[in-house]
Amino acid sequence: MNSLNKALSEAQQRLETALETVLPNPALIPNRLHEAMRYAALGPGKRLRPFLVYQAGALFNESGPVLDAPACAVEMIHAYSLIHDDLPAMDDDDLRRGRATCHRAFDEATAILAGDALQSLAFELLAAAEMPDAEQRLAMVEILARAIGSRGMAGGQMMDLDAVGKAPDIAELEDMHIHKTGMLMLASLQLGARCAGVTDQKAIRSLEKYGRAIGLAFQVQDDLLDVTGDAETTGKASGADAERHKPTYPGLIGVTEARAFAETLCDSAISALDDFDGRADLLRELARYIIQRDH
Ligand code: IPE
Ligand code: IPE
Ligand code: MG
Ligand code: MG
Ligand code: MG
Repeated sequence: MNSLNKALSEAQQRLETALETVLPNPALIPNRLHEAMRYAALGPGKRLRPFLVYQAGALFNESGPVLDAPACAVEMIHAYSLIHDDLPAMDDDDLRRGRATCHRAFDEATAILAGDALQSLAFELLAAAEMPDAEQRLAMVEILARAIGSRGMAGGQMMDLDAVGKAPDIAELEDMHIHKTGMLMLASLQLGARCAGVTDQKAIRSLEKYGRAIGLAFQVQDDLLDVTGDAETTGKASGADAERHKPTYPGLIGVTEARAFAETLCDSAISALDDFDGRADLLRELARYIIQRDH
């Protein structure tokens, strides 16, 4: 196992242990809602956003339990976004992480509420996080709220729905991908850095440049996997974007060009980290993994 795989699997375990303790017990009423929240959040995901929180913290010498609240928060937001993304009113998907989507395993109303409740719980965790000062908690709440609202992830999802059946230009497609996927990944890095109490603005800007590049690269690769991957490996339906007339990078510029673009983004993500020492090595490796992954 290479160093990135080892670190990813450690982060997955750490995150899953932390999630277990913060998710409501399924024996609590309303049981069905709690079961649906747990089904979606604990399903077999890569946990890349928590990994970004942990790695951004480690980059600035913070690896302690203080990172667990933001790591759980970003994964809960991600789980909520997937539940809603899969709903019939949005992408109408039946398969997620190799299993039935939340609304298929439960029902639509329960899935909507599970998404809502995961979102609330994410903010509750940040607001109640064990941090020395309240100002830091407030800053974390603001970072996450901005990243996922109408000018962030939810806005990106709206652009995605508005773009169905249309042919946006490359700048519009980039803007949509940055919002729907990139901003939560960028926020994950910002939260980790915040927890570490970093004040070096130049270092933060470099990390943000990295975050913007990997966030976009991640969605370009996601679009590519919809064309070139198989459901067995990705855990979700293949060819779903074309079927639903979604504008994507391979759709707009072709598979070869989209791959080349992902490579360019990966290179610029890695060069954004030039001023960091070996502590950024896993983030450098992650950039490559993001565009080479098969699921
Ligand atoms: C899928 O995200 C949704 C997108 C933003 C493209 P991931 O590929 O990180 O999903 P999991 O968490 O590993 O299932
Ligand atoms: C999902 O994008 C983005 C969010 C969930 C915010 P996609 O719709 O491409 O993700 P998949 O392919 O269903 O995982
Ligand atoms: Mg979608
Ligand atoms: Mg989708
Ligand atoms: Mg997709």
